[in-house]
Amino acid sequence: MRFQNKSVIITGGAGGVGQALVRLFCREGARVMVSDLSEPGCRAIQAEMSDAGYEVHYLAGDLRQKHYCESVVEAAVEVFGGLDILLNNAGIIPRGNALETSDEMWHLALDVNLTAVFYLCRAAIPHMKARGAGAIVNTSSVWGTHPGPGHVAYCTSKGAVAALTKNLGRDHAPDGIRVNAVCPHEINTPMIRSGFERRGLDPDKAVAELNKTVPLGRIAEPEDIADVIAFLASNEARYIAGETVEVTGAKPVSG
Ligand SMILES: NC(=O)c1ccc[n+]([C@@H]2O[C@H](COP(=O)([O-])OP(=O)(O)OC[C@H]3O[C@@H](n4cnc5c(N)ncnc54)[C@H](O)[C@@H]3O)[C@@H](O)[C@H]2O)c1
Repeated sequence: MRFQNKSVIITGGAGGVGQALVRLFCREGARVMVSDLSEPGCRAIQAEMSDAGYEVHYLAGDLRQKHYCESVVEAAVEVFGGLDILLNNAGIIPRGNALETSDEMWHLALDVNLTAVFYLCRAAIPHMKARGAGAIVNTSSVWGTHPGPGHVAYCTSKGAVAALTKNLGRDHAPDGIRVNAVCPHEINTPMIRSGFERRGLDPDKAVAELNKTVPLGRIAEPEDIADVIAFLASNEARYIAGETVEVTGAKPVSG
């Protein structure tokens, strides 16, 4: 019960890693505010957790809107009386090199993957600072720290999330707030599976092929990444701040 009575915001809480995070933090005692674009998705995870006896609230909306980002923090503070942990997990992955990336794709990636993270952190930090404690875990990607091929907007946004994390980690450590990021390689979630489907591939077969490229024998499951995020948010990581942690199954970025 590492998160007994802790108040936690999880963005992208209706997605692959997000649902794993909601389940894990609830099991370990947290009270959770779910944020996601999908209202039905929010409702489904909230219902699943409520049926199991856990406290989950949600505020559905679009992270491209500054007002929504700030409202998520306000809602959590109002419902829980404060905020202990912020998990910036939501993300999108537009595909394309520079010549294939429209203005809209570029701004969408930067708005959702980077600017929303900044807005949420900026809104959350004063509440954590008031308590003299807090933990933020942002989700970057190894494709941010070592860009992969043909995803210029995604890789740039995730690289900037890594830089933002190091900046905030440095600036707010004296406030008792630890800001870290996780940088996963491929994860078996709707993000990667829908990408295969769009390219006309069978997701199960494509994941099986991808598994062969990972030295540990398989791409990550959502729970593999949720466990690392939970560690970084927990007291066990009390001396880790301003770090980006790569979680890759020993697979390098290639291609
Ligand atoms: N799946 C991978 O291979 C992989 C690899 C490295 C990093 N990541 C990162 O992990 C995180 C979780 O991804 P996932 O694989 O669970 O993806 P996912 O697509 O299953 O979940 C992402 C969630 O974010 C939400 N979201 C998207 N745009 C939004 C918006 N504008 N406003 C509010 N919510 C929005 C979606 O509704 C979805 O529920 C993301 O930041 C992603 O970039 C994923």
